[in-house]
Amino acid sequence: MKVAYKLYIFERADYKRNLLFHLMTMNKYKFISTFVLLFFILGNRYSVFAQKTTEIAFHENVAPIIHKNCTPCHQPNKSGPFNLITYEDVVKRAKFIGRVTQTRYMPPFPADRKFQSYLNDRGLTIGEIATIKLWIDAGMKEGFQQTKKINNEDVNTATQPDLILKMNKPYQISGNNNEDFRFFSLPSNWTKEEYIEAIGFIPGNKKVVHHSRLMVDTTNKIREIDGLSETDPRVYDFQKTALKEEFLYGWVPGNDKISFPKGTGVKLNANSDFLLNMHYAPSPVVETDQSEILLFFAKEKVDREVKNITLRENDISNKPFLIKAGEKATFFISKKIDKSVSLISVLPHMHLIGKTFRAFVITPDGEVINLVKIDNWEFNWQMTYQFKKLLKVPAGSTFIVEASYDNTAGNPENPYSPPKDIGYGWGTKDEMLNLVLYYLDYKIGDENIEQKR
Ligand code: HEC
Repeated sequence: MKVAYKLYIFERADYKRNLLFHLMTMNKYKFISTFVLLFFILGNRYSVFAQKTTEIAFHENVAPIIHKNCTPCHQPNKSGPFNLITYEDVVKRAKFIGRVTQTRYMPPFPADRKFQSYLNDRGLTIGEIATIKLWIDAGMKEGFQQTKKINNEDVNTATQPDLILKMNKPYQISGNNNEDFRFFSLPSNWTKEEYIEAIGFIPGNKKVVHHSRLMVDTTNKIREIDGLSETDPRVYDFQKTALKEEFLYGWVPGNDKISFPKGTGVKLNANSDFLLNMHYAPSPVVETDQSEILLFFAKEKVDREVKNITLRENDISNKPFLIKAGEKATFFISKKIDKSVSLISVLPHMHLIGKTFRAFVITPDGEVINLVKIDNWEFNWQMTYQFKKLLKVPAGSTFIVEASYDNTAGNPENPYSPPKDIGYGWGTKDEMLNLVLYYLDYKIGDENIEQKR
């Protein structure tokens, strides 16, 4: 690349000198020949550039970018719908790849990185995006085959889980091309209290599992929900039971397991039941799924419990939480905390008509701590954002959330046509506004603790 660019500058300078000389000694014959020369210069200049950029080759320049950023999902048995491993894989979809990288649709990472930086960040640099584009534009040279190790490390299965909870039986998704939202009950039957140091999820059928949300119940009263559709009226009764964890973990394609800092863990009461809220994508053929939850228990002594603060619809300052048909609305939450905490992660949650989400903290000294900002809410790419370092929030700080929704007919994500009033509910076509924060009670020095995956 550098060589090509230098050559291009050098040659351009040369042409300029020629042109200047030519213009100084110009008469009417030369005037015409100037045009001819200009034509030649421009044509030649671009061809020189194009010729040099063909030196960008797949194996040398493009494969390292693809293997690091795309292959972890785009390989067999992973969430990506096709493989992106070999030269042929990439050439076959080159145009599409150019587009999704330039628009930053892939690799998926909806949060604004300039607002806050995260441990689980993914994304291409401007240089990487340009390299892919130039390679495609110049005709996709293969280069020399290199046997580099492909990054297919699987963070979910690198260590053995202590408890695997599988859906009781395979669930059949009918091939009627409709989305399907279901609840499943997975009793842990674990008779001891434990601390969970990491949580993972393995979709049983990656073709149809769109995303899932994990809740925990300690009353054992919701087991009957197993297999119920979100639209089943009985769900509204179950919804009245207060859960221990409303949102223990959220899985979307590519969301690997979450690990809590050493010596900390989420307390799991004996005999807890797990609830899985599954979103299945529309399918034209019958499919089955039997997904699994992976729980990793702390082996060493846990002296600090991971707790969670969930800011929710009740905390909204401009209630009611209702988005009228045909209207746009913005809701605000502001909530003060009276103890110092160390934040581990943040998980914003809205449904289909959510558009923007922003959360930050204002400390008693008036300092602002950014948490998360999403300018283009993507329902299908919800994730837990884990901070690079534990984030100290001092006592007396106020959490601020600002979330906007678009319930007009002009919003392609609107589940109703014509639009209908939309209010709170567990169902995907209803709306929610949550900010789930995992934290530890603050201890001096926490702000220097780097988190690890
Ligand atoms: C975290 C997992 C993940 C990573 C990393 C990832 N993809 Fe994807 N990709 C997916 C999934 C899942 C889909 C299908 C769902 C969708 O389109 O949102 C997809 C879809 C696509 C599509 C089709 C888009 C469409 O509109 O149908 C292209 C092209 C693509 N990916 C290319 C890439 C490239 C190039 C990279 C690396 C720069 C990459 N992906 C990284 C998971 C991933």
